[in-house]
Amino acid sequence: MNNKILEDNSKYIISNYSRYPISIVNGEGSYVYDSESKKYLDFISGIAVNNLGHNNKKVNNAINKQLKNLVHVSNLFVIPNQVNFAKEIVKNKPGHKVFFCNSGTEANEAAFKISRKWGIFNNKKTIISFTGGFHGRTFGSLTATWPKKYKEGFYPLVPGFKTAEFNNIKSLEKIIKNDKKLLAVIVEPIQGEAGVILGLKPYLKKLEKICKKNNILLIFDEVQVGVGRTGKIYCHEHFDIKPDIFTLAKAIGGGLPVGAVVASPKVADFLTPGSHGTTMGGNPLAMAAGMASFKQINTKSFLSNVTSKGNYFLKELKKLSTNNKIKEVRGLGLILAIEFFSSRLAKKFATLCLNKGLLVLLTEKVNIRILPPLNVKKSEIDQSIKIFKSSLEDLNV
Ligand SMILES: Cc1ncc(COP(=O)(O)O)c(C=O)c1O
Repeated sequence: MNNKILEDNSKYIISNYSRYPISIVNGEGSYVYDSESKKYLDFISGIAVNNLGHNNKKVNNAINKQLKNLVHVSNLFVIPNQVNFAKEIVKNKPGHKVFFCNSGTEANEAAFKISRKWGIFNNKKTIISFTGGFHGRTFGSLTATWPKKYKEGFYPLVPGFKTAEFNNIKSLEKIIKNDKKLLAVIVEPIQGEAGVILGLKPYLKKLEKICKKNNILLIFDEVQVGVGRTGKIYCHEHFDIKPDIFTLAKAIGGGLPVGAVVASPKVADFLTPGSHGTTMGGNPLAMAAGMASFKQINTKSFLSNVTSKGNYFLKELKKLSTNNKIKEVRGLGLILAIEFFSSRLAKKFATLCLNKGLLVLLTEKVNIRILPPLNVKKSEIDQSIKIFKSSLEDLNV
């Protein structure tokens, strides 16, 4: 790519990201093109944001239409697009209400603040998160996040947080025994950043039961796995669980920056005017894009297609895993991972895929995370399998 842009990137952009020296300039469906006109099959989808791929006509039309009316107005006013989108999000959740913000970390912060307000009336304070969890990088969400690498250099963090071991109910029970002020538990039902680690159904069901019994709020962080990614509109539906609060972001904005907190009737009315807010959250343009995307995803046939394509993809990946390089393949719907026996293999594999025109995410060192658009074609899955196969062969060289 243009060396001047690379130089200026170092000169003018704060260096908190390690970036590929590639500039993506346009996209269509499941494909993107870089500044050298190289074509890539995009199985990163902007890290689970572009659930309908690139250049989706209905989303673009909604944005164009809204652009002509109003982009931003602030939350000093009633925003019909916000109201209508919230109505759609809670269509099957009577009494639930939505708070809109701009990102996943903000959605989790808002969930914590709602919980703390509720806790005042119940004399409860402590929030529990889990080993392996990732909830964002602002101070509260960062405190709830597990890997130390995100926290180093930023201490002191927020008081009132504890950690339990993921998928181990005894670990949570131990904390409950010793802390009578437990307020809330925040959990990713599938840990995306940790490498697509699936919460086990009996564990998550038990977690819900324990929270109910002890009057502890259950928060599901569905920032990565909500909005159809797993074949259900919300991931908690797989486990037949009703969280008190769940958070959404990434795909909920149809490509524009949107985060959302969905709060059940138990907690929905604890934020009073002025107690929380955001200038940009839920602006008319972002809401128009989010709504146009959400409506396409939230249909029975679209979601069942995600399930069948996900099952097919996983089956094909399993066929590749009979060797001494891949430890496991796993996933649910269209969030999938290949775990390698070493970080060296995973890194080399991701680079080989990139060079062959397939974008996948290297995650927690030994994992390749695969996040195709939800409307990916079967032929595109087959194309990725071919590239995976040939990259595996090249690992031997
Ligand atoms: C589960 C989960 N929660 C929260 C976040 C933070 O979202 P954002 O980057 O939009 O702040 C992420 C981002 O990857 C995530 O995967």
